[in-house]
Amino acid sequence: MKILITGGAGFIGSNLVRLLVTKYPSYKIVNLDNLTYAGNLKNLADIENAPNYQFVKGDICDADFIQNLFSQEQFNAVIHLAAESHVDRSISNPIAFVMTNVVGTVNLLNAARYQYQKADNVFQKFYHVSTDEVYGALGDSGMFTEETSYDPHSPYSASKASSDHFVRAYHDTYGLPIVISNCSNNYGPYHFPEKLIPLALHNIKNNKSIPVYGKGENVRDWLYVVDHARAIDLIFHKAQNGSTYNIGGHNEWKNIDVIRLLCDIMDEKLGRAPSTSQQLITFVKDRAGHDLRYAIDAGKLKNDLGWMPSVQFAEGLQLTVDWYLNNEQWLNDVTSGSYQHYYDEQYVKR
Ligand code: NAD
Ligand code: DAU
Repeated sequence: MKILITGGAGFIGSNLVRLLVTKYPSYKIVNLDNLTYAGNLKNLADIENAPNYQFVKGDICDADFIQNLFSQEQFNAVIHLAAESHVDRSISNPIAFVMTNVVGTVNLLNAARYQYQKADNVFQKFYHVSTDEVYGALGDSGMFTEETSYDPHSPYSASKASSDHFVRAYHDTYGLPIVISNCSNNYGPYHFPEKLIPLALHNIKNNKSIPVYGKGENVRDWLYVVDHARAIDLIFHKAQNGSTYNIGGHNEWKNIDVIRLLCDIMDEKLGRAPSTSQQLITFVKDRAGHDLRYAIDAGKLKNDLGWMPSVQFAEGLQLTVDWYLNNEQWLNDVTSGSYQHYYDEQYVKR
């Protein structure tokens, strides 16, 4: 089994690559990533020399490059994570999201479709990793199921919704074998510190203000990233062709409560007096079109495939805080931007 993972140098991608490379020594895992500001090969330093792992630097927006890569490598499957992933950036620069998330996805679909139609039984699955944000926002009650209508609000979620539609269209039109999962907010190691939890940890440590949008009343459903990777592994191997699964933590928190919790944990770990870090909380202008609440009903995944989150929030936050405190160099590199130069000549686009 030769699997192309796109976006494997990012947050979720690196956690997934690590899981698959170590769990399936007989698979060949090819990680295609363009190493944008969000991609970092140091995320995979511990497995970069594994015999069943290969890194390729390249842009999914480059259709010729993608077609050539598929012709050379004859992949059996794709797990597609490469994306522009930050909602705030999508509000400032929507076109980048259309290019990578929509055009990049369609380039991959075209290459996969060609390979699928060209040779019997070589190409087996196109797994598209998507988000719960395609469903829009919930009020105080209810949950997103796989039947919830799409209603994206931000340029990011609109681009992800569009990519989901293209993936289903390639299944319905060309018979391409596909599966899609829509997951809630992840947290854990290697999370880029522009997102809420790692940003807060970074700022608390450095005694900088923690920006809380609006009143901090927005609710997110948090899942430890390794549990997301486990779910992808399970769905990839067991889900029926054409199916969709929601993935979530059944773990809803208001942003302000998550921040207060992080402040308390950090005060304890850093030996600060109780409530010291909460003084850093600063309420700032709200995000435009800010979705009020996300909550995932992951019942289908539990009933069909037996998946449940294995890491509870209290434990996951402790693991996450410890990881950030023990990986100061990573955090400094990522925030200084120097890591973007951390790649060797062998990784230059071929
Ligand atoms: P991330 O921003 O940390 O990583 C994205 C990766 O994609 C980076 O390594 C980047 O270099 C790469 N990339 C970006 N543009 C590329 C291009 N044109 N060509 C090749 N590579 C490119 O993102 P993440 O948080 O790990 O999210 C991964 C996927 O999971 C995304 O598709 C996202 O929509 C989805 N998702 C994320 C979450 C979450 O909470 N982070 C939740 C649900 C779904
Ligand atoms: O739901 C899944 C999605 O979760 C993924 O598809 C996205 O890729 C991922 O970035 C995440 O989107 P969010 O917008 O929910 O994540 P973010 O960390 O940017 O924000 C979480 C919440 O915290 C949100 O309500 C906005 C708020 N926030 C965020 C930042 C960065 C703040 O209050 N202050 C901040 O500085």
